[in-house]
Amino acid sequence: MSLCDSGPRCPELDGVSATPTLESSPCSAHLQQPGFAETKCSILKLAMASEKTFYLETFGCQMNAHDSEKVIGTLLHEGYRQVDVEEDAGLILYNTCSIRDKAEQKVFNRLNDYKKLHKAGKRFGVLGCVAQQEGEKIFDRAPYVSLVSGSASYRKLPEMLSRLEAGENRITGLDDRQTDETFETELTSRQNPYRGYITIIEGCDKFCAYCVVPYTRGKERSRGSASVLAEARRIADQGYTEIQLLGQNVNSYRDPEGKLSFAELLAAVGQVPGIRRVRFTTSHPRDFTPDIVQAIDAYPTLCDHVHLPVQSGSSRVLKMMSREYTYEWYLERISWIKAARRKISLSTDIIVGFPGETPDDFIKTMDLLQEVQYDCVFGFKYSGRPNTPALTMIDSVPEAEKVKRLQLVLDRQREIQRVNYARHLGEEMEVMVEGMNPARGQVAGRSTQNKPVNFTTSVPIAPAPGSYMRVKITNTFPNSLVGEAV
Ligand code: 5AD
Ligand code: SF4
Repeated sequence: MSLCDSGPRCPELDGVSATPTLESSPCSAHLQQPGFAETKCSILKLAMASEKTFYLETFGCQMNAHDSEKVIGTLLHEGYRQVDVEEDAGLILYNTCSIRDKAEQKVFNRLNDYKKLHKAGKRFGVLGCVAQQEGEKIFDRAPYVSLVSGSASYRKLPEMLSRLEAGENRITGLDDRQTDETFETELTSRQNPYRGYITIIEGCDKFCAYCVVPYTRGKERSRGSASVLAEARRIADQGYTEIQLLGQNVNSYRDPEGKLSFAELLAAVGQVPGIRRVRFTTSHPRDFTPDIVQAIDAYPTLCDHVHLPVQSGSSRVLKMMSREYTYEWYLERISWIKAARRKISLSTDIIVGFPGETPDDFIKTMDLLQEVQYDCVFGFKYSGRPNTPALTMIDSVPEAEKVKRLQLVLDRQREIQRVNYARHLGEEMEVMVEGMNPARGQVAGRSTQNKPVNFTTSVPIAPAPGSYMRVKITNTFPNSLVGEAV
């Protein structure tokens, strides 16, 4: 749940969209021609029957959305064609997320819904975090699934696809924490029209007590800076002006070539010709260093926004969560960011109702919100996840109390954002266009601070996604700004 129209990890807006279905019924026209039906048309039909098609649906975070871009690119390279409905596909893939709630149950329910499609000869694959988490159990619960692969095994996709095409079943890619390799590919099929993603670090070694990620995405491994910069240049050559560097803990980046620190890599990406905006998510407080703020101050292309998940305002709870920092440590990093010459916008993640969180601990989280004055907060009720240490703790906060605490967080944050956003009234700012809202007759865009800006323009043609406009802010809401192009 978030108080932001779309935050740093909101997949709905960044969603991986499917390519349009190509014309698939040429036969009726050909049948007009005498003698055509039995010969050429049956050849065509055969070719179409053997055509490799896939449908891919993505759930979860921006890492997953970008993984899907790489998976799509790999499949296209292997001769598959992407379709936008399950019914048209030979291979149906789900790229899953298991970060919260009963994610795995939702995937099984979904697979169950599509049982009938299996009877129509379709093959199924489960990718991503639920695949890694549930492993071969998926075959037992959903025997019509042929492929189960976690993200740490995507580099083996071509091989897994050939086995699938050869008719094999129960194919697994479950490298888990064994691999040191990252999934680097030049085949990425970029689906976002205005933002180019680059994963610079995969996996996680932090093992926060509540979190499945270290078990589902494998161990922490960084990509070489030369390869990251080469991808940044390729993205710029393709016409993108905004790059988002991705990693579960993006600022834990350690260049395997030993050339660049994370802050230096940020600066280098920010200097790639043609790049106007660089974002990065998600930062971990433990590895947040002052040179990151110095880089933002020094390079105008680095956006005025840091997402720094705190999870709780109580040092006692942070300790139980194994976050490896205290309230004071976190606030020191916030003070560095606030001391920057540029006004850097702050956002965070909060978990309420972690096992053992008392009313007093919760008040500390509410006080932290007041202290930091974030521009955006993603709030979550704690949910026990498989394999995590917190699962062995007593889930002591009743569901109704979790709901209440979450609502209090969101209410407090709404008031903070109302004031924060109102400060922009009358300001003129650069906005990157993301799309149109035809119902409201507004262009939808985003400021460097990651704030949604909806604006009108007198230009009759809709501005292209990825273009920039100067906008004067004429109205403000707790989640968005409204303005007019100048
Ligand atoms: N329960 C609730 N929230 C969680 N998150 C991660 N694991 C859990 C969990 N088990 C939240 C954290 C993290 C964000 C991506 O999801 O706030 O920063
Ligand atoms: Fe999960 Fe903690 Fe790793 Fe973030 S740092 S992915 S919350 S274990």
